[in-house]
Amino acid sequence: MKIMVVGGGGREHAIIKKLKENKEITEIFALPGNGGIAADATCVAIGAKDIEGITAFAKENDIDYAVVAPDDPLVLGCVDALTEIGVPCFGPAKNAAIIEGSKVFSKNLMKKYGIPTAEYEVFTDLEAALTYLDTAPIPTVIKADGLALGKGVIIAMTRDEAKDAVRSMMEDKIFGDSGSQVVVEEFLTGPEVSVLSFTDGKTVVPMISSMDHKRAKDNDEGLNTGGMGTVAPNPYYTKDIADICMETIFLPTIEAMNKEGRTFKGCLYFGLMLTEKGPKVIEYNCRFGDPETQVVLPLLESDLLTVMKATTDGTLAETEVKFADKNACCVIMASDGYPQKYDSGFEMNIPAEIADSVYVAGAKLEDGVLKTAGGRVLGATAVEATLAEAIDSAYALVKQISFANAYYRNDIGKKAMEATK
Ligand code: AMP
Ligand code: GLY
Repeated sequence: MKIMVVGGGGREHAIIKKLKENKEITEIFALPGNGGIAADATCVAIGAKDIEGITAFAKENDIDYAVVAPDDPLVLGCVDALTEIGVPCFGPAKNAAIIEGSKVFSKNLMKKYGIPTAEYEVFTDLEAALTYLDTAPIPTVIKADGLALGKGVIIAMTRDEAKDAVRSMMEDKIFGDSGSQVVVEEFLTGPEVSVLSFTDGKTVVPMISSMDHKRAKDNDEGLNTGGMGTVAPNPYYTKDIADICMETIFLPTIEAMNKEGRTFKGCLYFGLMLTEKGPKVIEYNCRFGDPETQVVLPLLESDLLTVMKATTDGTLAETEVKFADKNACCVIMASDGYPQKYDSGFEMNIPAEIADSVYVAGAKLEDGVLKTAGGRVLGATAVEATLAEAIDSAYALVKQISFANAYYRNDIGKKAMEATK
């Protein structure tokens, strides 16, 4: 079987490593992949947003199954294009990917179907937004409607900050067209939980829960990033909370999408906040999270390809999805300066005996030498019986890896450890 994975980050590396456990797979192509992924797949220089290039490649190479991992190609309709030429895919069609592609869509969906989320107002007019902010409760949260590389959310602690945020989105267009509509949202508090789920549009199977660490610096200080580390499971996510989420959020979301004629298949990511008034949706993603995938998939005991195909074929209810009763921790090693300015092009040293535990996010091969090529460079994941051991082992892996200007947080899993006490 020939498989194609669209994307080229740590998440895609984790998906590819897990897929490789299936012995029926003879070849995996990564489009575009990266220098580190090249150890596990054949990398092809076709960008993840090049839908025409991707479909042409799939056709020419008789691809049997495709996994479309990042948000951009999903929102652009990559799954629709591949399905049309007869290549079965993991991932939602364009009309369902909108659940991540438009925050206005997802907020209105939740309101219409009574799915718990923060109160909000939508603005297409700058003056109306500014007037609203004269009296809105502070802190408040400003979100650009469309995809913005994970940067389209601003938590404003003052009225002036909130107004500056809407001006920068609506007037200065810092996120381009993504900011032509903005959502102004109630500020919620409570522990955050990421729950990725498999769904075929009928059945929804939550994966093991996880906790991301989004801020750049220790103790949740510094700028928001794509994620500096993860642990799974998330100790705040108890069995009781999981039951509430299934009943009030997961199933209602799947049903709502069906009722809208936008059946969702693939991985639906629920970004949740456990508030005093119960779990609420902070955001939906139409794909696997990064770096949540790097702790969730190493705990998956079932065959990933079988589960993925079941979401495509509509047979998820009959398919076993089993996770190990263990703990995982992933520590991201980044280029110092990320998420702002950083240097790259430095030689990386990853000992061969730990390569299985390393998911490369930003690297290139130059004359056979692996060099850094991005903000987030790699994630090192350890799986152990307890959370404390997983954290220790992940940091032991990090200590064995080196490249100039490496930066990582020292407290991944600390909050989770406190929650277990
Ligand atoms: P996102 O880029 O959508 O993942 O959001 C980034 C982060 O902003 C989330 O992980 C939350 O920590 C925070 N956030 C988003 N919406 C809210 C909200 N309504 N209240 C409080 N924090 C929020
Ligand atoms: N880790 C959050 C995301 O993938 O957007």
